Amino acid sequence: MGNTTNIRIAIQKSGRLNEDSLRILKDCGISIDNGKDQLKAAARNFPLEVFYLRNGDIPQYLRDGVVDIAIIGENVLIEKGVDIDVAEKLGFSKCKVSLAVPKGVAYNSIKDFEGKRIATSYPNTVRQYLEKKGVKADLHIINGSVEIAPNIGLADAICDIVSSGSTLFKNNLKEVEIMLRSEAVLAVSPKISSERKEILKKLQFRIQSVLQARQ
Ligand code: PRP
Ligand code: MG
Repeated sequence: MGNTTNIRIAIQKSGRLNEDSLRILKDCGISIDNGKDQLKAAARNFPLEVFYLRNGDIPQYLRDGVVDIAIIGENVLIEKGVDIDVAEKLGFSKCKVSLAVPKGVAYNSIKDFEGKRIATSYPNTVRQYLEKKGVKADLHIINGSVEIAPNIGLADAICDIVSSGSTLFKNNLKEVEIMLRSEAVLAVSPKISSERKEILKKLQFRIQSVLQARQ
């Protein structure tokens, strides 16, 4: 029986990071056997298995050691996986996590958020940020289409990812505070075995060459 060890990598199943994550693996000379229809795929020429997962679930999979590594947005790690190590910054999927208010609202400072209702998918990030600034606000946690919240009277403001800014623009919102800047990173499970750490080293070596060539 062939009993070779593979390193298990989680990548985003669908969404912004998916394509760029597959591209960097490809640029590393790793060819993955099949598309996104299957949730698991093996590489043909590298000891690697790909798991296509939901972004928000990846930190827990890493923590549990169900996957060894992941390509994930730093913003998701900051929100849900502060305990998880980053091996490499990958330079793509750059975005901000920002606070925004309706265009027509005058904005002076972070103190303006005192007592306000903020809709967000990033409660930990917002809570920490506001705590540091000494501001108390009321958080409404929603999982998507956050920018609609002020228009339907659910919140006074929102906190979400800003990439091109077009979602803010289309919903008549303006960015007033940038809480953090994020990009895709290679994250590592605290439970990775030493055998798989050796495979990780080889992968990192390839990733570093790819990133250098991209500069
Ligand atoms: C993401 C994010 C923002 C938007 C930012 O939403 O939640 O809403 O993209 O990108 P932009 O600045 O380029 O417009 P997504 O489209 O993934 O949908 P969702 O929030 O419903 O998951
Ligand atoms: Mg959105």
